[in-house]
Amino acid sequence: MSKELKIEAAKAALGFVKDGMKLGIGTGSTADEFIRLLAVEVKNGLSIIGVPTSERSHALCAELEVPLTTLEETPELDLTIDGADELDGDMRLIKGGGGALLREKIVAAASGQMVVIVDESKVVETLGTFPLPIEVNPFGLGATRIAISKLADKLGLVGEIALRGGDKPFVTDGGHFILDASFSRIPDAEGLSDELLNIPGVVQHGLFIGLASAAVIAGPEGIRIIKR
Ligand code: 5RP
Repeated sequence: MSKELKIEAAKAALGFVKDGMKLGIGTGSTADEFIRLLAVEVKNGLSIIGVPTSERSHALCAELEVPLTTLEETPELDLTIDGADELDGDMRLIKGGGGALLREKIVAAASGQMVVIVDESKVVETLGTFPLPIEVNPFGLGATRIAISKLADKLGLVGEIALRGGDKPFVTDGGHFILDASFSRIPDAEGLSDELLNIPGVVQHGLFIGLASAAVIAGPEGIRIIKR
């Protein structure tokens, strides 16, 4: 996704932001562009308050003086703007490429609306080409990995399940690890979601189902907005 398309998508998403809103602020390179544009609007007088979905986004918002709050202080938000790794025709997503999926899902679920900012390359017919991030507790990693493999076998899903970072595991903001599952195709995202959440060591996964209410899709022909 070119930087220009990220900026175009982020710009169009600003159209969803209204004065006085409590915002969820996403994570990733597209969300970074949104934060930069939001900061300019704030300097020009827009009044919003935001909950960032990662330490990374928190740092950028703080640097650019975007007013921040927490979900403890402000547990109900109006709108979350966030990127995604994949988006299908039913507005189901794969997220977590940047490792922030747990906070992203908590924040999106606490928001009245979630608007996704992506480029056309992220729109897919069937989710799964992008490896599905599964956030797991470091305790019992081996057992959790076996349980996920057995579940994949049961559901007919084939592909490597790799610990992000390998010998030096990537650690999420919540202190967990991520297993990236290269299933290629996930025909039943709802079924996989439910069953993954039944594995005790799984903290959360990157399938976002029923959360996004609109998507701003940037392409060479311009911007397309789809709503659920
Ligand atoms: C982070 C995410 C990101 O939204 C996703 O990875 C997209 O990132 P980018 O905008 O850099 O392509 O889910 O956890």
